Amino acid sequence: MILIGFMGSGKTTIASGLGERMNMQAIDLDEEVVKLAGKEIPRIFEEEGEAGFRQKEFEALARTSSIKGIVATGGGVVTYDRSYDFLKITEQPVIYLHADFETLYNRIEGDENRPLVKRKDQVRALYDRRLVLYRQVADHEIDASLPVEEVISGILKIKW
Ligand code: S3P
Repeated sequence: MILIGFMGSGKTTIASGLGERMNMQAIDLDEEVVKLAGKEIPRIFEEEGEAGFRQKEFEALARTSSIKGIVATGGGVVTYDRSYDFLKITEQPVIYLHADFETLYNRIEGDENRPLVKRKDQVRALYDRRLVLYRQVADHEIDASLPVEEVISGILKIKW
């Protein structure tokens, strides 16, 4: 299973909760990219640009095909063509964790570990552009403004 959604939608927390519940491994793509690069995300952006980050993120995503687990992606994964195509054709279920912009912005405002969190209007523009892409690749959409436990039980109730 692959979780997608904007920054602050709870992908990492929910993947780990689902992993426990389903007795499966939870994989966080941001963590995998940090391991691959040997440096933290803000430094990857500084030294290799967003393009460098996206390439590594795709590599980490592609590697998950051979692992059975719950994958938490980074919020921008859908903006890179190769990752977008991967999500479109993967046989794993793709779940979009949706919440409105204000809810998400309140959760991520001022986070220095997220280089793309800058001015509010810029973050809103990213949100608007990505919303369409999330919906294009997702098999299911879940309300991620609810408490974590409810989001998890909502996903567990999906009939595949
Ligand atoms: C990004 C989201 C981050 C991380 C990187 C870029 C984005 O992941 O991959 O900072 O482009 O939205 P989270 O969605 O886990 O914050």
